[in-house]
Amino acid sequence: MSRTALVTGGTRGIGAAISVGLKEAGYNVAANYAGNEEAAKRFTEETGIPAFRWSVADYGACAAGIAQVEAELGPVDVLVNNAGITRDAMFHKMTPEQWREVIDTNLSGVFNMTHPLWSGMRERQFGRVITISSINGQKGQMGQANYSAAKAGDLGFTKALAQEGARAGITVNAICPGYIATDMVMAVPEAVREKIVAQIPVGRLGEAAEIARCVVFLASDEAGFITGSTLTANGGQYIA
Ligand code: CAA
Repeated sequence: MSRTALVTGGTRGIGAAISVGLKEAGYNVAANYAGNEEAAKRFTEETGIPAFRWSVADYGACAAGIAQVEAELGPVDVLVNNAGITRDAMFHKMTPEQWREVIDTNLSGVFNMTHPLWSGMRERQFGRVITISSINGQKGQMGQANYSAAKAGDLGFTKALAQEGARAGITVNAICPGYIATDMVMAVPEAVREKIVAQIPVGRLGEAAEIARCVVFLASDEAGFITGSTLTANGGQYIA
């Protein structure tokens, strides 16, 4: 019987590539999204992957959304915490709201999604929790004190929870993508983006499918000895 995977922010960008990659690898996939109804509808039409709307920043909405997914697709074996936002600003211009929005989605969102699924994974003695952190959680990034803090927090969460899950057959890992050609990176001013690409030894932005392949590997039964790890995929831009 095929396993079920749930991908947050799974209808666009890196998340969409992950949803498709897992489907191609034989999983039953559910994709969560927060806001862009039109993109989600198009994604489902193109891929056949059902999309479910709720905000990962809201614990109650996560619990209800997960219950709906599990009622329709069965227990979730693989959780991919991919949903993330940016509210970039130099720190002296950053507002408390920009700080809170990013922490609520990129850090608390990971708690809000993992917590309601944890007991079921423990009972079934199998689980995969894969969180998409970022190069900027590893190295820090000017203009992203909020985002870098949240993404570094995701790494601490991963390392702590990996130790709790190990004896219950649950692995907990993080992936740190570098700059990937998605809407999020394309929203960076072009002059700044050119500077960034110049810092990537491979000489190009990454592809979303390159991150999806990392997820498929970590989700597999064969990756059961890998837990608490950070898989870096950044074209050599930062070597942790
Ligand atoms: N790399 C190199 N230089 C950068 C930079 C970066 N990532 N971000 C800003 N700078 C530089 C600018 O080029 C500029 O340099 P000069 O003064 O020499 O021209 C200086 O910092 C100040 O920047 P701005 O003039 O743009 O200042 P601003 O107040 O108008 O805007 C900002 C600040 C909103 C942070 C804007 O610079 C910006 O969006 N920077 C990009 C920040 C970034 O890298 N975000 C990553 C988004 S993608 C992502 O988050 C996905 C992921 O996980 C990798």
